Amino acid sequence: MASRFKPSRRQILTGAALGGAVLAAPWLRPGDQGGTHNAYFARLQMALKEAGLYRPTLVLDSERLYNNTQRLIEHIHSDFAYRIVGKSLPSLPLINTVRKQTRTDRVMVFHQPFLNHLAEKMPDSNLLLGKPMPTNAAKRFYAFHTNTDFDPSRQLQWLIDTPQRLKEYSQLAAALGQNMQINLELDVGLHRGGFRDAEEVALAIMSLREDPYLEFTGFMGYEAHISKMPGIVGGPEQAMKNAMAFYTQCREAAQRVLGESYRPEQLTFNAGGSSTYQMYSKQMYNNSAPCNELAVGSALVKPSDFDVSTLVDHIPAAFIATPVLKTLDAVEVPGLENVAGLMSLLNPNKSRSFFTYGGYWKANPESPPGLTTNSLYGRSTNQEMLNGSDSVKLAVDDFVFLRPTQSEAVFLQFGDIAVFDGLHITEHWPVFQQGA
Ligand SMILES: Cc1ncc(COP(=O)(O)O)c(C=O)c1O
Repeated sequence: MASRFKPSRRQILTGAALGGAVLAAPWLRPGDQGGTHNAYFARLQMALKEAGLYRPTLVLDSERLYNNTQRLIEHIHSDFAYRIVGKSLPSLPLINTVRKQTRTDRVMVFHQPFLNHLAEKMPDSNLLLGKPMPTNAAKRFYAFHTNTDFDPSRQLQWLIDTPQRLKEYSQLAAALGQNMQINLELDVGLHRGGFRDAEEVALAIMSLREDPYLEFTGFMGYEAHISKMPGIVGGPEQAMKNAMAFYTQCREAAQRVLGESYRPEQLTFNAGGSSTYQMYSKQMYNNSAPCNELAVGSALVKPSDFDVSTLVDHIPAAFIATPVLKTLDAVEVPGLENVAGLMSLLNPNKSRSFFTYGGYWKANPESPPGLTTNSLYGRSTNQEMLNGSDSVKLAVDDFVFLRPTQSEAVFLQFGDIAVFDGLHITEHWPVFQQGA
């Protein structure tokens, strides 16, 4: 039993005061927010029952995924190359599906075991690290890399954020006798590391030019802060201008250092993320957008952290489905059994309890409507209590659907992804192994 029920004296007094107020003023009482599954979730529930999947399951709607890849193509295809953010879609068949629909071979990778896995199983891919790996993690990649169809010296770009790491990679490359492609991380305003000064970038490119094993292959400037910038400091527009101005300075530094051998069309100038990609166009800043490819992952499945104004034409494509194990026509908190009736009177959405198979994921209840967790009772990864009104007609073995807040960690928690084509569960897609 993972419930951690500990109502404090303060909670009880506050509850009593609120309760008194609501009873005295019934218009303060929340309305009944409950209901039943709509046609979409009723169909999905039938599909899961038909597939015999009576356990917590990550469901991916293949039609909705297709809708989202089409929106992505419409927005960026003619202007920028597209790179799949592998951590946000952490499954080989999922990445393969997105690859086919978007006709890209570019994937951004964030974890050494995933890197080895992709190099092994997707040897025709073009990989860019999305964060700098410890030098010993890079060493481990080479120690376990066996598929000769994937040539890391042409198909993999390591990400370097400091002169110190550059030195370490140079030593590693020399020790292994291994040519390596090096992409430099730029701090374009997110302040999560990377080069902040164009002169330092120039120095790094100079040392790369001299290095017998390392080759400069571009920049990566991630800018997740842009969509959240408040108006008081110029809002997203100004943050984007600042980011692109620094990016441009760094490109100019590269051109200066490389001179005749500067070939921008052969370099990777990466930017973007789900919440910003729709802000980019080739026309920006008098046809001189400094980046030439955009990395996007989460927008294709749209977890709730991505309910932002720049993604209104993307639709949620992933849900957690889990069976109801037990139902109760009351909300009984140990020690407060006598006030269950009062709780329901104060809030009709606290009239029934449902214990689900698993819980406490990075996700919020989505269907049926009106379900909430109960902080007084406590959260549970084993059997989570959800509450609803009498209008929530869930029975044992029915399903509850939750919407993940993010994809990268949540997708890895359920085993194979169940693929829903709008009618049936048609495929089961394995997810990446964290520590393989
Ligand atoms: C370097 C980098 N690029 C791009 C992204 C965008 O990923 P997503 O589109 O899944 O938000 C991220 C997300 O963390 C990132 O770290």
